Amino acid sequence: MLQLTNITKSFGSLQVLKGISLTIGDSEVVSIVGPSGAGKTTLLQIMGTLDTADSGSVIIDGTDISKLKSNKLARFRNQHIGFVFQFHQLLPEFTAVENIMIPAMIAGKSQRQARQRAMELLDMMNLSDRASHKPAELSGGEKQRVAVARALINNPSVIMADEPSGSLDSKNKAELHQLFFDLRDQLHCTFVIVTHDEQLATLTDRTIHLKDGEVVDIDDAVPVTDVAPSPDTIPTSDAALSPDASDAALSSDTVLPLDSHDE
Ligand SMILES: Nc1ncnc2c1ncn2[C@@H]1O[C@H](COP(=O)(O)OP(=O)(O)OP(=O)(O)O)[C@@H](O)[C@H]1O
Ligand SMILES: [Mg+2]
Repeated sequence: MLQLTNITKSFGSLQVLKGISLTIGDSEVVSIVGPSGAGKTTLLQIMGTLDTADSGSVIIDGTDISKLKSNKLARFRNQHIGFVFQFHQLLPEFTAVENIMIPAMIAGKSQRQARQRAMELLDMMNLSDRASHKPAELSGGEKQRVAVARALINNPSVIMADEPSGSLDSKNKAELHQLFFDLRDQLHCTFVIVTHDEQLATLTDRTIHLKDGEVVDIDDAVPVTDVAPSPDTIPTSDAALSPDASDAALSSDTVLPLDSHDE
């Protein structure tokens, strides 16, 4: 469970978040929507421990993250949170499977364990046959699915995605969005998704509307029993999202421990 209490954040004289309180339950898929500049990315970064609030608290899985020092925070992030950005932020010199393995290696898993789990995740994404391809050899939708697999490898309790389908065409978008719901059902993880995609927002369990740094509305989903799952595909990241975006995706500053050869 993720609990935000009275989060404020200013950049200079600009108050971007004006006291946000939210509770997001386990296995919930929540969307955050609102106009450009509303503070969505800032809020997601604070929730995801990539940025700090000026005041207020963020509690994830019972841990008050504002009390963690940087090493413990990096470890916590690596083990509890997965990130997907608008642009995939995959490392170009590594293959799909290696990119997925990296957060597991940082977490101390053996190369064998990391590869095995990465291959399972690739299989879930229907990408087994792309495992040894580098990002430049993958389509946009495939890269985003690899980025989702990378976000999942340490079995995080929550995946945070900032406009994950923002760079995809409608078919890949739909596939990525559907993937989120399939993963929630299979892995029981929570998804917090910043999106401008209205169709995705209508599919999520709750939509949080942010405007001028405040929550102005929260929509509970209409009972969705007969809503056709419209697949959405997820692209990973917004290069502008954070100067540390690729580090964040890796959840650590640690030097990559991968061997240069492929097994
Ligand atoms: N590091 C920063 N320094 C100064 N101002 C910032 C910084 N990051 C964001 N801002 C400002 O804070 C406000 C909120 O930005 P944020 O990125 O959270 O908006 P957003 O809702 O994600 O918008 P978009 O939909 O365009 O991505 C904007 O006015 C932005 O210019
Ligand atoms: Mg943004």
